[in-house]
Amino acid sequence: MLTPDQTYQLLRALTSPIVAVTSAKDGKHNGMILDSAIRASIVPTVPRVSVYVHKFNYSHDLIFQTGRFGLHLLHTGQFDVIHRLGFVSGRDADKLAEVPHHLGTTGVPVLDDCHAHFECAVANVMDTGSSTCFLGDVVAVGFGAVTANAPRGEVMTAAYFRAHMPPEWRQTYEAQLQRAQRFAEQHSRNIRAVRWPGLSA
Ligand SMILES: Cc1cc2nc3c(=O)[nH]c(=O)nc-3n(C[C@H](O)[C@H](O)[C@H](O)COP(=O)(O)O)c2cc1C
Repeated sequence: MLTPDQTYQLLRALTSPIVAVTSAKDGKHNGMILDSAIRASIVPTVPRVSVYVHKFNYSHDLIFQTGRFGLHLLHTGQFDVIHRLGFVSGRDADKLAEVPHHLGTTGVPVLDDCHAHFECAVANVMDTGSSTCFLGDVVAVGFGAVTANAPRGEVMTAAYFRAHMPPEWRQTYEAQLQRAQRFAEQHSRNIRAVRWPGLSA
């Protein structure tokens, strides 16, 4: 019989690459970091992704209210972006102020430097109690700009991030993870039936 911790370590093998997820509302631009993004369609003409966003994150409300998000595969040179977007909330800081970006065709911020970006329109949602799983139709896609300072490089996987994270970040990262785990533990059983307004009757 495996312990819950052993089971969790096994489940970590299902973690996605590290991605930056952006959103915008009323002129406010925001970004966060996720490792819970997956391809959610096998049909090349119906490209889809899904992401799990905790309800306490500011991005959750921005995505829920606008039905739009930008998803960025990062490259292995982008630890600074992970630190800027994944360690503090956009409620407390203008996190994209120092991250070069432009608005994409759907109005979401698109990071100039990334491996690739996808602009997504929410097609449906699933409530997990502590988070929302957003299913997104990919409506625009592109590579990041390649410059001498920003080669496109290898995709930042979760394993690469954990193995190469600057040691001085680890304590904050672990504390933040534990806070999120406590929140999830408290709320995971309280699942609501949510009907996404964009669905036809
Ligand atoms: C490596 C890493 C992975 C993360 N994965 C997730 C995730 O899958 N879902 C989530 O809701 N938050 C995740 N986070 C935490 C958010 O990025 C973090 O809470 C962020 O500050 C949220 O910003 P916001 O409040 O501006 O939306 C992750 C953070 C890091 C550093």
